[in-house]
Amino acid sequence: MLDRTQRTRRRIFAAVAAIAAVVVLAGCGDSSGPDNDQNALQPHGPYAKKILDLTRPFFWIAVVIGIGVTFATIYVALRFRVKPGEERAPVQVHGNTVLEVSWTIVPALILAVMAVPTVATIFDLAKKPTDPRTIHITVKAHQWWWEFDYEGQGKKNVVTANEMHIPVGVPVELSLKGPDPCTTANCYNNGVIHSFWIPELNGKKDVVPGRTQFLKLLAAKPGTYLGQCAEYCGLSHADMRMRVIAQSADDYAAWQRSQFDVKPQAELLKGVHAVDYKCGNCHSFEAGKAGAVAPNLTKLADRTAFAGDIYRMNYDNLWKWIYDAPGRKPLGPLVDSMPAFKDQGMTEAQAQEIACFLLKNTATNPQPVPGCPS
Ligand code: CUA
Repeated sequence: MLDRTQRTRRRIFAAVAAIAAVVVLAGCGDSSGPDNDQNALQPHGPYAKKILDLTRPFFWIAVVIGIGVTFATIYVALRFRVKPGEERAPVQVHGNTVLEVSWTIVPALILAVMAVPTVATIFDLAKKPTDPRTIHITVKAHQWWWEFDYEGQGKKNVVTANEMHIPVGVPVELSLKGPDPCTTANCYNNGVIHSFWIPELNGKKDVVPGRTQFLKLLAAKPGTYLGQCAEYCGLSHADMRMRVIAQSADDYAAWQRSQFDVKPQAELLKGVHAVDYKCGNCHSFEAGKAGAVAPNLTKLADRTAFAGDIYRMNYDNLWKWIYDAPGRKPLGPLVDSMPAFKDQGMTEAQAQEIACFLLKNTATNPQPVPGCPS
């Protein structure tokens, strides 16, 4: 007989297990909602689809094997257990050649069969696109944001951050450049691996210090495809997101043109507090020119989000970020990044002025911003 405490304990355990099961199973629910935009099960291009086509049959093979092994284990445990009152030791068996050979050969065969389409897919995805329209973009991983540098192609470069625009139906060849390899004791700053992943457009690829890796993207239809750094890279790893905006050829060309419709940096920044706080030392406001250590802010106001794509682009988020970035996103003690300007004497009014300036002067079509002078 179970005593009272034991019964209570069992009930608590059952309740906790039930709640845990509900939480875990909720993850298997409808994943097509608006908040589930990083969904490898809903590919929007041929490369991601290729991966899913490989995954699906393997998943079911794994389910069959998993269920078989689980039930066989439970069956054996129940069938051959020592029953209450039984004194005997179980029958001792040593070796069974037929069984041992077959449970070695069968899995080896299954794995050999699965290797054929796997290897074919790996080689296929490693092929560089041959389409002459292919767009080349160099992706640089920083702690903690992404820099996208569009290589010339007869035009001037576009350098942007966190938000990548691509034309629909055209392959995109990414050169994923890791930071320079760590040569000092302060490896925290530059020696980390990141991973670029837009689940709806292709698999993930590590971005490794000192190396250049290849990954390609192709979006089948216009849309926004969200991504996330997929390799732990420090305090703000979870805040290192990105988005790919796939557009029609015309919209893409218009976006590219808009990047060059800017005033020279010196003229642009004249008279604004952005100068007092030396924003231009780290950021660049020039088309096609990377910032020294921070994102290029050309057409910043046209972007959907900022700060590693975690904050919606609006007045409130922007001035609070300028005022106290480390308070809005963990930046790490050793990383050379956006300081807490509030500790350097910046007032809220100054942060608001800079936010208004950015929202107005880096927008292709400036809209009146509530809270800002028109
Ligand atoms: Cu970058 Cu995780």
